[in-house]
Amino acid sequence: MTPRALIAGTGGYLPALVLDNDSLAARHGLDTSDAWIRERTGIRQRHIAAPGEMASDLAAAAARAALEQAGAEAAEVDGIIVATATPDAAFPSTAARVQAKLGVTRGFAFDLAAACTGFVYALSVADAMIRAGQARNVLVIGAEVFSRILDWTDRTTCVLFGDGAGAVLLRASTEAEVGRGLLSCHLHADGRFGDLLHLEGHPGVVRMNGREVFRHAVSKLASAVDEALQANGLSKGDVAWLVPHQANLRIIEAMGRKLDLPPERVVVAVDRHANTSAASIPLALAEATRDGRIARGDLVLMEAIGGGLTWGAALARI
Ligand code: UT7
Repeated sequence: MTPRALIAGTGGYLPALVLDNDSLAARHGLDTSDAWIRERTGIRQRHIAAPGEMASDLAAAAARAALEQAGAEAAEVDGIIVATATPDAAFPSTAARVQAKLGVTRGFAFDLAAACTGFVYALSVADAMIRAGQARNVLVIGAEVFSRILDWTDRTTCVLFGDGAGAVLLRASTEAEVGRGLLSCHLHADGRFGDLLHLEGHPGVVRMNGREVFRHAVSKLASAVDEALQANGLSKGDVAWLVPHQANLRIIEAMGRKLDLPPERVVVAVDRHANTSAASIPLALAEATRDGRIARGDLVLMEAIGGGLTWGAALARI
């Protein structure tokens, strides 16, 4: 039997400092308002990393929580993949730093760059490695400190993002667990649209053409979701939960409507986390599995779009 990658544990970590929209505007002297930010994005607040708090710190905390929930020891981890656009450094990788922080001394560790789609990409890579028998236990982490790469004078971008990390421990399924685990991942990129959302300069600040990215998001996410369902012979009625990338409540709600899902079946965290890029799906997934909303046997659909442009979807049976 070819094993599947089972989501054995989830965990999240958010930095202590919380800024609501008004505090953010006051802190940076922004010409914006709580009403504009909430109406256009659904965001009410975001977490901001402390000075010196790095992506690997957030990632290690989320990973520890995922290991604990899975009842697994760090020594069992065969590999660590960190999806991030805000690594501690180009090298050593953030994943290698997480490995050291967890006290793991074997297996592989590497970072993956696919911006906000990074977690879906990382799931796909880990899934392929587990199916190939190359690893049995893989930590897949999304970790971001976007507050470090924002232009705090640009109100069109700086109000949108937040810091955080989410992690899952993927474990090779056993014969008794047939039918559970990741069903498939579907990845896409189109570099022609790279300029719509990119880092400008060195070390770089985020620039985004929000209106254009929004347009691409609605159509590309819809087709990725259709592709994932079709690949598994499933229909939208089979989906129990949508755990979408958390960029904008309007996009999230549009995807929920497309799937005919009632709002309570769509996991929303953007109001409290803002857009945490690669961390947004695993953070939302961790919240909804840990509070008991998502239960064993549920079919969960994940989707994301971000810089690259990159986009994709993944289906998992919990
Ligand atoms: O995670 C990666 C994927 N990213 C996304 O999916 C993001 C997709 N895009 C979006 O979520 C939305 O496009 C935004 C939230 C970024 C912007 O919302 P929008 O409804 O597309 O607004 P807009 O860019 O068309 O701007 C509308 C107006 C403009 O003023 P004028 O030109 O109409 O006078 C902006 O200057 O709102 C103004 N504006 C603001 N006003 C107050 C832009 N930012 C702000 C602000 N506060 N922070």
